[in-house]
Amino acid sequence: LSFSDDIEAILTLKKERNAVILAHNYQTPEIFHGVADIVGDSLALAREAMTVDADIIVLAGVHFMAETAKLLNPEKTVLIPDMGAGCSLADSITPEDIALLRKANPGVPVITYVNTSAAIKAASDICCTSGNAKRVVESLGVQKVLMIPDEYLARNIARETDVEILTWKGHCEVHELFTADDVRELREAHPGVTILAHPECPPDVVDAADFSGSTAVMSNYVGDHKPGKVVLLTECSMSDNVAVQHPDVSFVRPCNLCPHMKRITLGNIRQALAENRHEVTVDPAIAADARRAVERMLTI
Ligand code: 13P
Ligand code: SF4
Repeated sequence: LSFSDDIEAILTLKKERNAVILAHNYQTPEIFHGVADIVGDSLALAREAMTVDADIIVLAGVHFMAETAKLLNPEKTVLIPDMGAGCSLADSITPEDIALLRKANPGVPVITYVNTSAAIKAASDICCTSGNAKRVVESLGVQKVLMIPDEYLARNIARETDVEILTWKGHCEVHELFTADDVRELREAHPGVTILAHPECPPDVVDAADFSGSTAVMSNYVGDHKPGKVVLLTECSMSDNVAVQHPDVSFVRPCNLCPHMKRITLGNIRQALAENRHEVTVDPAIAADARRAVERMLTI
């Protein structure tokens, strides 16, 4: 009930301001189901941002997602309700680090996970998401690639391809918390449970799980396979959102919250729309190169 005022106000403001809300799968259910126009994983949000027709895009997610939307649809006003919504992966690497990696590995293409700043994307050959990483690696037709900055994503993808993958030491602060022991304990406590793990989890966790994929792929898996009981080893709100769509599936919920995703609330979405804040811009000096790396990914 306490949400209804904000939801009503946001729906009105969206119309008045010709705005759409893009929300990541990790947003809380009142945002995901209550006010979002488009929901999805990082790849889907990037694709959808490209074709938004409204004047304003409110990105209910983290900063790199808003930057990617601005890169792909630069004419639009892109707002993020809290500028502090960052990401431990985005913070794990600098353009100088990439320059050193290139120097140490001459000629090896740099594939950058979208969970990075525009400056990092600009220093890269191509981007990837957890939904297309293997396809991007294999699209380049080379023996060796650098996949940065997520060590675990790179190591998980390396097991699915013959291409040699060098990586970096970045980790997602949410997914790195899951352990193979957690998986064993879940199986003991819930015999027959299906365990899905995001590829940002450590490789031994992915090994112990039944299936691994991006947030959208996990959500589709639940819809397609209708497991009796399922665990999603990923950010906490994901299960809440998917459970609403599949009331016939029972969800076991270990809860690791992303503090960055959780900075976005109905209250600050309402404020963002009412006060036109906080506008996300990309330095023109890097925008063209960053856009090229993202667009190259989207052609694959
Ligand atoms: P995907 O939704 O692309 O799987 O990304 C997960 C994530 O951690 C985004 O911050
Ligand atoms: Fe970054 Fe992990 Fe939070 Fe996603 S869940 S925004 S990867 S810290």
